[in-house]
Amino acid sequence: MVPYSVIFTLILLTSYVSVSTSKASDGMRHDVRHFPDGFLFGTATASYQIEGAWNEDGKSENIWDHMTHENPCVIDDCSNGDIADDSYHQYKRDVEMMRELGLHYYRFSLSWSRILPTSFPDKINEAGVAYYNNLINEMLKYNIEPMVTLYHWDLPQKLQELGGWANPHIVDWFGDYARIAFELFGDRVKYWITMNEPREVCYQGYGYTTKAPRLNIHGIAEYMCAKNLLVAHAKAYHIYDEEYRALYGGTIGITLSITWHEPESEDDAQAAEDENQFEWGIYVHPVFSVTGDFPPVMKEKIAAKSAAQGFARSRLPEFTAEEIEYVRGSSDFLGMNYYTAYLVYRNESVYSAHAVPSFYDDMDCVRYQPANWEGGASKWLKKVSWSFYKSLMKIKEDYNNPIVYITENGYSTTGGLDDDDRILYIREYIDAMLDAIEDGANVQAYTAWSLMDNFEWMQGYTERFGLYEVDYQSPERTRTPRKSAFIFKEMVRSHALDWHYEPDTTVMTIDEGH
Ligand code: NOJ
Repeated sequence: MVPYSVIFTLILLTSYVSVSTSKASDGMRHDVRHFPDGFLFGTATASYQIEGAWNEDGKSENIWDHMTHENPCVIDDCSNGDIADDSYHQYKRDVEMMRELGLHYYRFSLSWSRILPTSFPDKINEAGVAYYNNLINEMLKYNIEPMVTLYHWDLPQKLQELGGWANPHIVDWFGDYARIAFELFGDRVKYWITMNEPREVCYQGYGYTTKAPRLNIHGIAEYMCAKNLLVAHAKAYHIYDEEYRALYGGTIGITLSITWHEPESEDDAQAAEDENQFEWGIYVHPVFSVTGDFPPVMKEKIAAKSAAQGFARSRLPEFTAEEIEYVRGSSDFLGMNYYTAYLVYRNESVYSAHAVPSFYDDMDCVRYQPANWEGGASKWLKKVSWSFYKSLMKIKEDYNNPIVYITENGYSTTGGLDDDDRILYIREYIDAMLDAIEDGANVQAYTAWSLMDNFEWMQGYTERFGLYEVDYQSPERTRTPRKSAFIFKEMVRSHALDWHYEPDTTVMTIDEGH
């Protein structure tokens, strides 16, 4: 028999190890940490990942419909979002899950081609509008605030054929679409997000082949995309600011994917900083810095490389002076999607590790994740919560402490209801976020990715991010809460992170008031 005192010490030790990253301001470890008053909780999804009904009721084709239909096996399991979670029909169950979790808000995105089947404002699809009205009204019935993303990667295919984000006219096309969304839903939607993760749109979709439309024109298209997308974002921001803010009193910002880059050695400090600037400074700097414009290091490096490579001008397009002013300050908050980190070292060898030209070659760095970093089902997703703290503090220091909403954070598994790995990930990251808040970072909301499993882009349904599991064999796409859903619910209810809370996972209920 092992004596109780030994078991007790062991439990204490294990719990100490698992929370040893926690660094509250008094230097003590806290097993229960409270969130600031008014701190908000939500979960997120995106239209193509959950809605299905890809061609129902007048919706037209978007770039993900097009790509997955033309070339199904670019997706790991040769799947697509034709039905996905069928939220177009199951939205009432989605709202019921939000009530079960006790959410303050729910972040979802609008499908441009569902609302405007021609891509342009000449024809509004009433059935598509009705779907979003029903969803929004159902949420508001239970005091769940909608947080609406205008663009989460599903560009109308017709606009892609016109060049998509590489065509500067998209600034007007996006502005027209945004105005219609504000007009239709602005009386009830108080949180607007213009774009989700421009980095992934431009680098992966235009520079490489890891997102639709897979242009693979690296070193050129990703920079054209970045500039046009930023000006289009600013256009939507100014339309809201000038035409709707006084009327509806909402708030509008942009969501960026932030990833920490840590120097591999002391000598690599500048390399890691360059990588941070290339990966996300390219979007944060123009909007949130005092001077606006692309980060100086990018302008210098890309101009020099372009000249040496025989280009007539820098491959990084320039903003005009008016555009710099138009984009600067065009966000009420910084929407931050945060997942993982990399180590970085400098590599200026003429034998580039990367394609030439490409944005990876332009920055003269190599990034990688050490083999001993633990992670989820997604190759890139390693659990490194200390990096979340560092990123939040850098944003606080470098960009005058903007309001930050964590618009996504989450973890992938291959499925199953007992998701202790996800729970550990969420707790560690939230702990790190609380450290940053205690050290002055202005973080006001946390959004778990995702409410439920969904179409994980190139990985199809092989990676699961949901607090709720979705059964893709059942016609109604039955949703079942995972253990993490119970943990998240308790966090929202108690307004605290409790490292030792063990839920009863037998029944999920809706608490009074929801
Ligand atoms: C960020 C994207 O916004 C979301 O669509 C995606 O599913 C998650 N990351 C997980 O990869």
